[in-house]
Order: sequence, then structure tokens, then C-alpha cells
Amino acid sequence: MAEENKFTVSIDGISVSVDPGTTILNAARQIGGDIVPPAMCYYSKLEGSGGKCRTCLVKVSKGSEKDPRPMPKLVASCRTTVMDGMEVQNITSPEVVEARKAVVEMLLINHPLDCPVCDQAGECKLQDLGYEHGSAKTRYEFERRTFERIDIGDKIQLHMNRCILCYRCVFTADQITDKRVHGVIGRGDHAEISTYIQGVVDNDFSGNVIDVCPVGALTDKTFRFKSRVWFTKPVQAHCACEKCSGKVTLWYKGEEVIRVTARKDEFGEVESFICNTCRFERKATSDWTIEQPTAINPASVIGANHYEQFQPPAVISEDEKLQTANRAQLLRTEKLK
Ligand code: SF4
Ligand code: FES
Repeated sequence: MAEENKFTVSIDGISVSVDPGTTILNAARQIGGDIVPPAMCYYSKLEGSGGKCRTCLVKVSKGSEKDPRPMPKLVASCRTTVMDGMEVQNITSPEVVEARKAVVEMLLINHPLDCPVCDQAGECKLQDLGYEHGSAKTRYEFERRTFERIDIGDKIQLHMNRCILCYRCVFTADQITDKRVHGVIGRGDHAEISTYIQGVVDNDFSGNVIDVCPVGALTDKTFRFKSRVWFTKPVQAHCACEKCSGKVTLWYKGEEVIRVTARKDEFGEVESFICNTCRFERKATSDWTIEQPTAINPASVIGANHYEQFQPPAVISEDEKLQTANRAQLLRTEKLK
């Protein structure tokens, strides 16, 4: 062991020491950069999430120092904990890259190709995955599942056609709101987010289901069709909210705040959940104390033409040791700036 009470794991050749019990995905996140497996269902702020979408598959080429045998199959990195001396391959394994392509194809079987009219376009994890791993054509010959749109109160819309059944919104309603009134009903091809979700609107934190949804299945009706996200300017702001942290991102179109969301980290997860009052009711600049423009990853379409100089990308860990270890990633990201 490198450090006392720590396990050393190597991911794509980069070593990191982590606490026992850490998952491979979280160990990779400590390194940062493009060796971090994508995660469509795992969400670190939601207990029990993960294990549904299989986008985070990795290859364990050495089980541990004590038992170096490789794991016989690819494993979900969000659900597999590290062992001391473990060696993991993600982007360096052609097998993993091939399997991820198949997972993306599977996720897209029922997903409509409506990115041009979808509000999530530009910040959709499935769009990113499709771009990176998808193929231009589908081999699926059957009809896609289709559903009627459901209004969840006057602020949220569920467009079940786009849902990938990641369960994040179910966990959010269960853990963040007072009473869970929705879930997944049916199994396999019949599975869908239950219409009981409409009851969640009574709760002050129901809007968070929009932020956790990795695709455009749950959208903010106060923002729908107002602008493509790359025409907006995100700005960090806060207010003295009595119900939540009050730390948000305001999305401006010209002088108008057209959307309020929680702040998201480099893995697309909210930093803290926000209440519906902040999200839906505070749409005037005078409601907020403005901090600074939101740092956008230079690779993101949202940053297009916005700022002359970007902040250093958040994907680079501030830990000096890891920065040195992940030098290849550092150089790649520097080139993008
Ligand atoms: S609606 Fe969105 S968050 Fe909820 S299960 Fe479907 S994809 Fe996941
Ligand atoms: S993120 Fe691991 S299975 Fe979905």
C-alpha cells in the first residue's frame, strides 16, 4: 500500500491512492480528465444511484495485489470498489470502447432523434455520448416507444419518449423531497416513469428532477423553447434564501434571465440542490447578487464565442501530484484552450 489505510489503484496507467470502499469511478474522478468513465445514472449526491445504464463499464485487468487475476467480464465502475494494487483500463482498452458503443446503441434504441428541437441539446449527456461513441445509423427495425407528454404541474414537463430510465429523478424525489410520489412502473420495454410524478409538484424541491435528468425527458416549462443553450450566457449568482443554499447559475439571454439552475460541477452534477422559489420565481437580476461568469469547459458548445479567456478547465485536479501524473490530459486540455 502506498499510504497507510489507502488503496492504490491504477486507471489507464495513472496511479491514485484512495480510501478503501471508493468505487473505481470515484477513483477515476479524483484523477480527472478523459480517463473518467461516463456516468448516465450514477449521481454522487443520490444514495443508491448507479448500476442501471452500463455506460461506465471498465476492464479490470488485475484484480488486486493479493489476487492479480483479471475480472472475467467488464464491470460497472460506479458499483465496483477498488482493491489495493488493482489495475483498470478505460479508454486504453479497445474492448471497453467497443462495449460502450454497444451501450450507446442500446440507449438510443427508443430515444427520439429530436436534438434539433430538444431543450437539453448542448448539455445532454446522451448527445455527448452519441457524438463520441455512436454510429450514424441504427440497426433497430422496430417502432420506437412513444408516450404522451405529461405536465407535472405548471413548471415541469415529462417527455417520456426521451427517458433512459436512469432512476435519478426517482432517487431525487425520494431523497430530496418530503414525500415520494413517483417511480418506475412496469419492467423491460414497458418500464416508464409513473404518472404519480405529477404529485411531486407540491414539493419545494421538485424542480431538482430537471437538473439531475441526463437527457431532455424532464424539462423546465418556464425555459422550454426560449433559446438554444449556446445562445445564453451563464453567470454565477447567489441570494439569501431561507430554504436552500441560494447558490445558482443564471442563464441570460440579453438582459433577461431565462432560466435558473443549480450550479453543476465538471461531472455534470449539481453542487447543491436548490428550491423551487429560486428556480422558478426569481427571474429578475435584482433578486440576485451576481458573482462572475460561469466557467465553461472549452470543449462545451455552451462556451462558444462567449468569453475571450477561459478559466483553467475544472477537469484538472488541483492536487499537484495528480496533475503531474495526469500530464497527458493536462496537455490535451491546454491545447483546447
Ligand atoms: S426522466 Fe430523466 S432522470 Fe428520470 S429516469 Fe428518465 S432519464 Fe432518468
Ligand atoms: S453510471 Fe454506472 S451503470 Fe450507470
